[in-house]
Formats: sequence, structure tokens, C-alpha cells
Amino acid sequence: FKLTTVEEFEAATNRLLETGAKVGADAWQLRVKNQTPHCKFGEQGVCCRICSMGPCRITPKAPRGICGCDVHGIVARNYLKFTAGGSATHSDHGREICHTLYCSSPDGAYKVKDPEKLMKIAKEWGVETEGKDIYDLAHEVAVLGLEEYGKVFGTQRFLKRAPKHTQEIWEREEIAPRAIDREVSCSLHMTHMGCSSLPEALIRQSLRSGLSDGWGGSMAGTEFSDVLFGTPKPIDTEANLGVMEVENVNIVVHGHDPSLSEMICEYADDPEMIAYAKSKGAKGITVSGVCCTSNEVAMRRGIPMAGNFLQQENVVLTGACEAIVVDVQCIFPALGPLSKCFHTKFITTSPIAQMPDSEFIRFNAETAAENAKAIVKAAIDNFENRKPDLVYIPDMKQKATVGYSLEAIVKTLDGVTNSQVDELGTTKPLIECITSGVIRGAVAMVGCNNPKIRPDSAHIELMKKLIANDVIIVASGCSAQAAAKAGLMDKQAKDLCGAGLKRVCELADIPPVLHMGSCVDISRMMNLVAELAKDSGLNISQLPVVGCAPEWMSEKAVSIGNYVVATGIDTYLGVDPYVSGSDKVAELLTSGIRDWVEAAYTVEKDIDKLGDAMMARIEEKRAALGI
Ligand code: SF4
Ligand code: FE2
Repeated sequence: FKLTTVEEFEAATNRLLETGAKVGADAWQLRVKNQTPHCKFGEQGVCCRICSMGPCRITPKAPRGICGCDVHGIVARNYLKFTAGGSATHSDHGREICHTLYCSSPDGAYKVKDPEKLMKIAKEWGVETEGKDIYDLAHEVAVLGLEEYGKVFGTQRFLKRAPKHTQEIWEREEIAPRAIDREVSCSLHMTHMGCSSLPEALIRQSLRSGLSDGWGGSMAGTEFSDVLFGTPKPIDTEANLGVMEVENVNIVVHGHDPSLSEMICEYADDPEMIAYAKSKGAKGITVSGVCCTSNEVAMRRGIPMAGNFLQQENVVLTGACEAIVVDVQCIFPALGPLSKCFHTKFITTSPIAQMPDSEFIRFNAETAAENAKAIVKAAIDNFENRKPDLVYIPDMKQKATVGYSLEAIVKTLDGVTNSQVDELGTTKPLIECITSGVIRGAVAMVGCNNPKIRPDSAHIELMKKLIANDVIIVASGCSAQAAAKAGLMDKQAKDLCGAGLKRVCELADIPPVLHMGSCVDISRMMNLVAELAKDSGLNISQLPVVGCAPEWMSEKAVSIGNYVVATGIDTYLGVDPYVSGSDKVAELLTSGIRDWVEAAYTVEKDIDKLGDAMMARIEEKRAALGI
């Protein structure tokens, strides 16, 4: 067993870029050069353009904007706007899923695949389930879910899942999120010219808006996706560009919302479609994925992962991609012009993400089956347009076992201990591993890639370091895909672990890096820590657990960071969130908010030091518990 190295990733990319050069394609690697150096004002967060008296840029000679706002107000406003963007995005995704659930029917495209989970949520939300048809219940719960977005009174229903202590903190600090849309709206109100410029108030709302994502919209996205498409269970798959198959029609799904990708997978598997592909000279149809939509279908169907965020152009550069089908978020507008250099069809499907140089096939939950069929057919029809001399698929892939939802983790870890039977089905076996020191702690590795960091290197190096030190990893998003591409989700990766973690991997038959899903599935991690706290009788902030986004780039990532911290989990970033221009805001985020929520951020661009800092924090928490 051997990990694939970042050097090998890069060699494959370079080979693909040669194809790109032949056809005159642009690439992010070139655009980064054109954009460097970046605007210093933007980097520090000190540029304000929220009113037309500006834009104003803060310098030592001009310490205030025209309205008199100081640098701290400007940086904090920018930070809150950034958060609201991310929170809106995840939450709107959750809303789409609620709507898909509302459209489910016994003979329609969308079914209820996990009725048990639906019943559980219904009971949690006080909905009468007795004697009710499962689809009537689905529709009722879907409406309640949709109402969480605009509820007139009260806070988010899912907050009740958190330990009492956490709920009390949220109430005390006035950051318990109300209606999801309201928190986004309130953030934009606060950041309007002439409203808040007090950093404390703006950062507080950043936490609340983040919480409306993590314990609101994202959680709805995760839970109702499970109800519709099944709660993930361990399943084998493969990762990296080598999963694309030269003799097959290659359809790549990219984006975040599983409503589309689930249907594409369904119809790509249809014997009629496969026969049609054969009639066009292909051997079959391969669906693979990029970004979180890939995580969704990998976790539930074992669909292979072609790559993560900064690999999206590579799938087109293989010359073997008949269609890259996208829904929402993290899609490079570059895919339009790039696809034009090849035979690839760039198919956009959502009114939310419309781009030039794409073919728009509108996808609706109500007409999902016919939309998906049209897309699969368009891809098949495109097979014969392939230019064979441009085809090169790097022979590079790794095995991965994915599908570790909270339910799956609990079930798998039952196998590790000599616990009493009455403790099975809880997180107690995991707690036992941690208190005994067999595992030192856990790190949630999440987030994107960012050209500011050598792609995937921070994810992979940190994971290697942590597992070698008996720290178990739960991963999601592009971080999880980096792990899978490298081989860290192969069960054989146990050999890279310290003796304790290796033993746990053997007993439970798991890889040391557990794939928990997409970015909205970081809500699964919130449920996991909530259960750990309840089962151990500790507060979340006492657990030897930290969060880490070493290569993050999007607004969504900042929203996530805010809810992870606001849940009591220290969070480590490898990229600065544009706050260095204000010492006050930087101080609040890295220390001040600890007084509010018992956790804070650490920003450290030296990745090795970032790893050391996380391990030190875990040991500090252990020492405080006397374990
Ligand atoms: Fe300048 Fe104030 Fe307007 Fe911002 S709100 S652009 S700092 S005048
Ligand atoms: Fe994502």
C-alpha cells in the first residue's frame, strides 16, 4: 500500500495542462499569476464600498471612511457580509432539499428511502406520526422545515439537539438563531451604511448567522437528504481522475445539491440508456463527481470521485468528458470557455447558477425524471464528437471506504470495545477510546482548496501527522476528497497510524479518516459532538476535539467556521479571512469570543505549526480533564 503524493497529483495536472496549451485553454494556474499580487486593501479587509460616497480605503493617512467609520467597523462589516453570503448559500441548499421532500411521492422520481429517519425527526418536532401515511408525513415535515426559514417567533428547532449547556450559551449570548432568512436579512441590515460599526455587535451577528446555517439550513439539507436518498452507510468507492473511463461516456456531476445528481445516477444506470450509449460506440456510462455533489453520491451510491475543487478543470482537460453537469456552488465560470476548447458539454441546471457558454437544461424537482433523461442523453449523443488525439486520463486512483454518517460511526464503533450492551448504539465506545488514550482526540478536517496553498498538501500533510499521533479524523467536503485521492480513506492507511488508532481501525474495520459527507454534512459533525457531550456528561468545549479548514476559500467556509466555533469547538484556519486590517476584529475572533462561546479561531499559515497547535490544544483539553 502506498499513498499517492501531491507531487504525483501535480505531475498529472501538468500533463493535462499541456493538452490545454495545445487547444489554447486558460487555466486557474495562469489566472492566479495574472491576479498576483492581490489587492492589499482587499486582503486586509479595509476597503469599504457599501455606499456610493466611497469606496473608502483605510490607510494611516486616511484612518476613517467618509462617513467616519473606522477600520474595525469596516473589517467587521465585511466579515459579517462574507458570513451572510455563506449562510444564505448553505441554507438555500437546505431549502431546496425541503422542497424536494415536499415533492416526494410513492410513484414519482423522489421517494422516501429512510422512513425511520423521517419518523425520528417528526417526533423530535412534535408531529403526530401515529397511523399517518409516510408521504403525508413527509409533506407535513417538509412544510415545517420550509417554515423554519421564515418563522415569525422563536428559534431554530434543531437547536434542541445541542446539550443544555450549549443552548444556554446561545440564549445568554443572544446568538440562538431565529428564522434562517431573518439572520441573513438582519446581517445585511446591520452592515448597511449607517447601521452597526461596533465590532462586537457585528461579530456576534456573524456567529448567529453561522449558527442559522449549521443548526438550521445545513442541518435540514443533511437530514432531509438522508430521508430522501438514504442515510449513508460504509461503502467502497474510488477517487481521483483515473476513475473516468476512456471507453465509456463520461458524465461528471459537480456542485452541491443531490436532487440533481441522484437523478443523473439513476438514469445513467438505466438499461435503456446503457444500450443507447452502446449504440453510439461506447462500452457504457461512467458517472463520477467533483466537489460536494460528488461526496453526496459517493456516500450513498459509491459513485467514484473524480476530484475536488481545484481539479474541476482537469476533468475537462482529459478530453474524455462528454458532459460536466452542474447544479450550484463552487463551479468555476471558467468551465464554459474551457469546455469550448473540447467536445465537452457544460450543462448548467439551476436558475441560481447560470453561466455564459453553458447549455442550460433547467432542472426541477417536479420534472426531475425527464430533465435527467435529457441530460444523460445529451451526454451520450456527444460521445461521437470526442477528439481522440486530445484524450488523456491520468492513470491515478485510490480505493476509499466512505459513508460514515453519525449513525454509521456509532454502529461501526460498537465493535471496538468490551462495553456493556446497554452502551451500544451510543457514542460511549468512542468516548472510551478517547478517555483511555487509545485515541488522543478527534479533528474535523473540512473545507476547500485555495491556490494560496499548494492544492491538497495541507489537508494531506495534516491528516498524516494527526493519525500518526493517534488522532482520528472526520472529514467532509474537498478535504475528504483530498484524503480519498491520496489513499487515506483506504483501510490499509491504518499502517500510517499510531499504535492506538491503528488498533481501533483494525477492530472496527475502518479507515483512519472517516468521510462524513459534503459541506452541509458538517451538521453531522455538530450532531456527533452533541452526542459525545451528552453521553460523556461533558460540555462540548471540554472535548479533545478541534476543527480545521487549512485550504478554505469560500464565504460558506466562514459561515461554517462561525457555527463550529459558536458550538464550542476551537477552529484552525490556514488562510486568513480578510481581517488582518483590524487588530480589534482579529483579537475578537482569535480570543475575545472565547468569553462568549468557550472557543475561538487560530489562524496559522505555516501548516506544520497549525498541526502542532491542534495537537497541543487536544492535549491541553485532555490534561484539563485529567485523562
Ligand atoms: Fe466609505 Fe462609509 Fe460609505 Fe463605507 S459606508 S464607502 S466607509 S462612506
Ligand atoms: Fe462543498
